[in-house]
Amino acid sequence: MDECIREIHAANDAAGFWEQLYRGKGSVWKDTANPLLAETARHLTPGHALDLGCGEGGDTRWLATHEWHVTAVDIAPTALQRTSRLAARNGLENSVRTEQHDLAETFPSGAFDLISAQYLQTPYAFPRASVLRRAAHALRTRL
Ligand SMILES: C[S@@+](CC[C@H](N)C(=O)[O-])C[C@H]1O[C@@H](n2cnc3c(N)ncnc32)[C@H](O)[C@@H]1O
Repeated sequence: MDECIREIHAANDAAGFWEQLYRGKGSVWKDTANPLLAETARHLTPGHALDLGCGEGGDTRWLATHEWHVTAVDIAPTALQRTSRLAARNGLENSVRTEQHDLAETFPSGAFDLISAQYLQTPYAFPRASVLRRAAHALRTRL
């Protein structure tokens, strides 16, 4: 672990950790969709989707390509820039908006037809149950 990452951990700085991860590399994840997302969403009527922890936008791009409007959320500004750029490269900029949130603190407002959180993982404390509760409330079709 280099000194910079060590300091970020000591400060319990989740945003710093993830931003550092993205800035340190040209790309981190594959830009293709996660199979579970694609397999699930392809049976649904497109509407407004929320992609939590969108990373570099592979799932967001897939959804927008399949006629969804997508709000893509991440804690890391560089991840959100890459998501926007990937959407723009595919002519999908009108279907994608990005919002920066630390989901441990804040949650996007609005109602959504699909909420996805593929590999939303972090080495920091994360209030999974309360994020899930907020997601359930934000779903148009209640579980
Ligand atoms: C393992 S990556 C998965 C990215 C993407 N969903 C994918 O499957 O390629 C986890 C993502 O969650 C984001 N993340 C971690 N903690 C977060 C938090 N507290 N709030 C919002 N996003 C967070 C990270 O920045 C990272 O982009």
